[in-house]
Amino acid sequence: MIRVHVDPAFSEKLNRASVTRRCYPWDAIDWSVPIDDAHLYMPEEFSFLAGTVLWERLAPPARSFVTRWEATQTLRNVGVGEHILNQALLALVRHTNPYDPAWRYMLHEVAEECQHMAMFNAWIRINPDIRTKGLADDRWGLVASVLTPVIATRFPVLLWLLTLLLEVAGDDLGRAQARNESGLLHPIIEQMGRAHLTEEARHIAFARHWVEQALPRLTRLDRRLLAEVAERLVDGILWLGLLPLPYSRQLERFVAHDEFHAALRSSHRRAMLRRQLAPTVESLAELGVVRPAALRRWRKAGLVARAA
Ligand SMILES: [Fe+2]
Ligand SMILES: [Fe+2]
Repeated sequence: MIRVHVDPAFSEKLNRASVTRRCYPWDAIDWSVPIDDAHLYMPEEFSFLAGTVLWERLAPPARSFVTRWEATQTLRNVGVGEHILNQALLALVRHTNPYDPAWRYMLHEVAEECQHMAMFNAWIRINPDIRTKGLADDRWGLVASVLTPVIATRFPVLLWLLTLLLEVAGDDLGRAQARNESGLLHPIIEQMGRAHLTEEARHIAFARHWVEQALPRLTRLDRRLLAEVAERLVDGILWLGLLPLPYSRQLERFVAHDEFHAALRSSHRRAMLRRQLAPTVESLAELGVVRPAALRRWRKAGLVARAA
């Protein structure tokens, strides 16, 4: 039996919130709005085009296509991540005490992630001209889906740490979609952002609570392992990005292969990654998950400005 490191009262609070604050994508989203080449599909600052010469060079319809390609790949990747998380959660539930309110909460989370997966799948299906299947990154998805339930049941705190790092970034994108600052985002993209973030806040809170409560009880070896993984992960994310985008021949008309890779490493994009990661890294530092040497290294390299 796996010990739940979340106070029952906190799990109950989240259970109540899951009942009262939920978002059904087929109520909250008007799926009838046609896809066109007049709207943008990524919030500008989140697109790989932002802060590069590409943004200015592309005519509005081309910008529309490229951001629709990017949004479709990204939302498909978020859906893959949610599928993997669900497999891990269901594995964890099997090893958890059903009288603990966290048991029900984890099922609420699975149900919510299933709705999100269905919502992203609906998006992919109304954009059939954007290829998302059979790409190279299908392989990492398969490997991760096999490994994650094992991690979840052997070392649950690591699952929650991974969840925390990935959900925080998804949440950031969802917020920008819902804000639609430019007013140019396609309505379905804006509505999906709102639907997603209503529920993600609970997922983040639960993961964070588990990590906080579990840490003081970890053995020295487990703490070390956790620090190792967390530090490598943050390094990897800073290097590769959170949801790596593979180049596609579908972009050829607008963006060359080299330009694409240069854009992924642009100073704008790196600054965005740092901004997204900073609060999580800061709280990992507060909790003592990442070690002072790593923090010094990141600070020195200007990677995490706000880290303690
Ligand atoms: Fe989600
Ligand atoms: Fe989530």
